[in-house]
Amino acid sequence: MFNKIILDIKREKSYSNVSNRIIQSLDNKTLTPIIESYLKEIKPNLNSKKEYTKTIKEIRKNLEGVYGAFNPEIKKRNKILRLLKKDSMNIELHKRILSTHLSSRERLAEYPEIYKRIFETTGKPKIILDIASGINPVSIPFMNLDKIEYIAVEINREDIKFLEEYFSIIKDKYNVNGKALQKNLIEKNNFPESDVCFIFKALDNLETLRTNITRHLLKSIPTKYFVISFPTKTLYKKRLNIKRLAWFNKLVKQPIKFNTKNEIFYIVKKENVY
Ligand SMILES: C[S@@+](CC[C@H](N)C(=O)[O-])C[C@H]1O[C@@H](n2cnc3c(N)ncnc32)[C@H](O)[C@@H]1O
Repeated sequence: MFNKIILDIKREKSYSNVSNRIIQSLDNKTLTPIIESYLKEIKPNLNSKKEYTKTIKEIRKNLEGVYGAFNPEIKKRNKILRLLKKDSMNIELHKRILSTHLSSRERLAEYPEIYKRIFETTGKPKIILDIASGINPVSIPFMNLDKIEYIAVEINREDIKFLEEYFSIIKDKYNVNGKALQKNLIEKNNFPESDVCFIFKALDNLETLRTNITRHLLKSIPTKYFVISFPTKTLYKKRLNIKRLAWFNKLVKQPIKFNTKNEIFYIVKKENVY
């Protein structure tokens, strides 16, 4: 049954070329825990054709969450980026770009408050590292910072290309020296030094793919503060059981926590990672 599910996920025709390439490149070892966690949570009746089709669709949505892979909005965001070129401080255009990615769309109204709370604790950073960034760097105008270096790390080549262009557009207006690096966080990597390292909505998925990767990552990233977030709802709109973060709570000491509508944030000093 697993093999059939994997084949059917990869067979889906409606994927854009980029997404198709990413999905095709995922091996069974990567896909299996994602499928397993879905089956465990939802327990669909796979003998029913209707439920089977729904299962394939929902797992693809999950892949969108993990890899940002199923992203029909790429064309749309590139179009808005061209408008931003002519009007680079236009906040509405920034919001429209952030709306093209599920994660940033969900926190759109809350960005100013989120950054206010973060920098109240960490102080104003000079260097920010954003791991598994998606298009979160487009929220820079909500940070209220000046003269910063911003390094985004992503696996998705399309996001990297997009971010490189975005950084070149905002460079002078927002006084940001931005870089986008393509890295697979599951592999061994070197990271540049930073004052604050964001890891938003990425660790529980990565941890599903590779146990202990979180500890390894947090230990290997040279930074003063980590700001880590987790979704509080699943992609299937179920409320997540907070006990599921027990593994993470064991890794960090004295975190400062706050909740937004769909997320829980942890601010943790590097020296408090165990
Ligand atoms: C749920 S999205 C979160 C995006 C962003 N941090 C945010 O909250 O707005 C997860 C991101 O992790 C990236 N990602 C997934 N697996 C990765 C890996 N192995 N290495 C690097 N990035 C990865 C995806 O491409 C996607 O952009």
